[in-house]
Amino acid sequence: MMEELAALREQAEAELRKAGTEEDLLNVRTRYLGRKGLLTGLLRNISNVAPDERPEFGKRCNEVKEDLSARIDQLLAGMAASKRNEGFLRERIDVTLPGRGVRHGILHPVTQVREEICRIFAALGFSVVEGPEVELDYYNFEALNIPKDHPARDMQDTFYIEDNIVLRTHTSPVQVRIMEKTKPPVRVLSPGRVYRRDSDISHTPMFHQIEGLLVDRGVTFGDLKGTLTVFLKQVFGEETALRFRPSFFPFTEPSAEVDIRCVICNGRGCRVCGQSGWLEILGSGMVDPEVFKNVGYDPEEFTGFAFGLGLERIAMLKFGISDIRLFFENDMRFLDQF
Ligand code: FA5
Ligand code: MG
Repeated sequence: MMEELAALREQAEAELRKAGTEEDLLNVRTRYLGRKGLLTGLLRNISNVAPDERPEFGKRCNEVKEDLSARIDQLLAGMAASKRNEGFLRERIDVTLPGRGVRHGILHPVTQVREEICRIFAALGFSVVEGPEVELDYYNFEALNIPKDHPARDMQDTFYIEDNIVLRTHTSPVQVRIMEKTKPPVRVLSPGRVYRRDSDISHTPMFHQIEGLLVDRGVTFGDLKGTLTVFLKQVFGEETALRFRPSFFPFTEPSAEVDIRCVICNGRGCRVCGQSGWLEILGSGMVDPEVFKNVGYDPEEFTGFAFGLGLERIAMLKFGISDIRLFFENDMRFLDQF
């Protein structure tokens, strides 16, 4: 029995040496020291030992038991400690590392241009107003003298929400909303987002326009031309080449589009200006008498001019950007340059 006890101890110690995990150690404990364990079993068979050797045998058994138990506790504690240390190492923070700087944003180039234009017109006495982006067909088209089935509806490919509700295709509906609730003189500027089914190097499905409207007694096309020239020279510089090109809008008569010499190719012709050397930046004209009638103004008494410009277009020209889509990619390498 004494030899059996010694063999059992050796066996248990060999197993402890091999134990790699907490679970292994707990298994060894159960196998040898548990209630149905090997050592407990040996002690239970003490009646097989000669009566005079029993006290000695019992004592040795208890010693082995205590030794093993203490050894297992020690190994468990060691494992727990090294696990904790691994955690500490993993989470170690080097407090001497330099911190990450807080990145400062800048105003988006389109926002910068919008603010600049609003400032210029504010100095000319215009106030800033806004209108809804989800707009009634009536304001976006009908009241602007573009009835249903009018071919001019094809000029702006429209996103429809319902039959009579659209995403506004331009900021011109704000003209109507303002005139409906104010008496002349009117001098307003209305910036905002507009939407069209349009997408290429100089067109995006959402872009920004600014609408301008001035109505009073005796306003002429000369006022329109003078105001827009002053404004464009302030934005692009005195020596900028501009041209007023006759055009058509159902809500203005006569109408003109204004082009600016392409700053990408300096007029030689490139991909951005479609080889023409000029870039269209705004539409304008004298408010059509039909529109005045729709808002209850007397066209015999009042005249006025209106214009609508594309903000991205202006930002592209001002900053020399050749692809309009860059504005909407949120790439910091691009945005950081302004
Ligand atoms: C209009 O939208 C008229 N409402 C402008 C107007 C207002 C005329 C008042 C007369 C009186 P047009 O569709 O040409 O016109 O657009 C005006 C400007 O928006 C263009 O000159 C161009 O600079 C810009 N633009 C048009 N489509 C896009 C697009 N898909 N992406 C970016 N800019 C665009
Ligand atoms: Mg146009």
